[in-house]
Amino acid sequence: MSAESDIATSCNHLAERLGARRPEIAILLGSGWGAVADQVQGAVDIAYTDLPAFPRLGVGGHAGLLRAGTLAGRPVLVLAGRKHAYETGDADGMKGAIRTLAAFGVKLLVQTNAAGSADTDMKPGELMLISDHLNLSQRSPLFGEAGDSRFVDMSAAYDPALRQQAQAAAAAQGITLHEGVYAWFVGPQFETPAEIRMARTLGAQAVGMSTVPETILARHAGIKVLGLSLLTNMAAGMDAQALSHAHTLATAKAGEAQALRLMQAVLAAVQI
Ligand code: HPA
Repeated sequence: MSAESDIATSCNHLAERLGARRPEIAILLGSGWGAVADQVQGAVDIAYTDLPAFPRLGVGGHAGLLRAGTLAGRPVLVLAGRKHAYETGDADGMKGAIRTLAAFGVKLLVQTNAAGSADTDMKPGELMLISDHLNLSQRSPLFGEAGDSRFVDMSAAYDPALRQQAQAAAAAQGITLHEGVYAWFVGPQFETPAEIRMARTLGAQAVGMSTVPETILARHAGIKVLGLSLLTNMAAGMDAQALSHAHTLATAKAGEAQALRLMQAVLAAVQI
């Protein structure tokens, strides 16, 4: 089947399962954000394997799940499971999923991730709103795309008005929300201290291995983006802590409750 017909089939399947419901907000969950899915009310679960445009995951025993319902009173589609560029080298693993969301009527993608802090003022366990990104990999999910629409304007990729609303919502809840530039390293190896010095020199406050491809895909599809990072460690060379996936996950787990509070506050506040 063609990519277009996979998207149409996926949309039809969503419509069959969700009836007339058309949530305008989708949330893509990264490490440390799993509690968000747990709090969805009236959940309807759809496996990625039932959606032909969605990625086949399987690595790490996680097949991928789309959960529809409400969170903080807002209808949402929560995507638990992301195909990462470090798995194959290709940045377009979430292309069909993001385009299905757009075709289904999603207007805002709230991206979440775990990231390393490249700023001495931002500590592990704290949260950062993504103001902009550095695509250090220089890979694009739009390689091979035709037409003028591929020349996507990225000058306000992380919606400025929505960022203001998110900051106001966090402040009203007494949640510290840093704001900064997220630098995408493709991974899967962590960065070297020299790479982190480079990223800091270039203006990065956080580093990670995800998010940027989906932001590009969303903007190409006309979906607005908000990005939230849970900082799980100081980036390589910035403290004595050795980096490991286990350490990332452990710190992410510790930050999960605060990340959930932030998500609820943001959802309650955003005007799309
Ligand atoms: N680097 C890249 N990705 C990450 C990090 C990091 O330090 N922490 C969590 N994800």
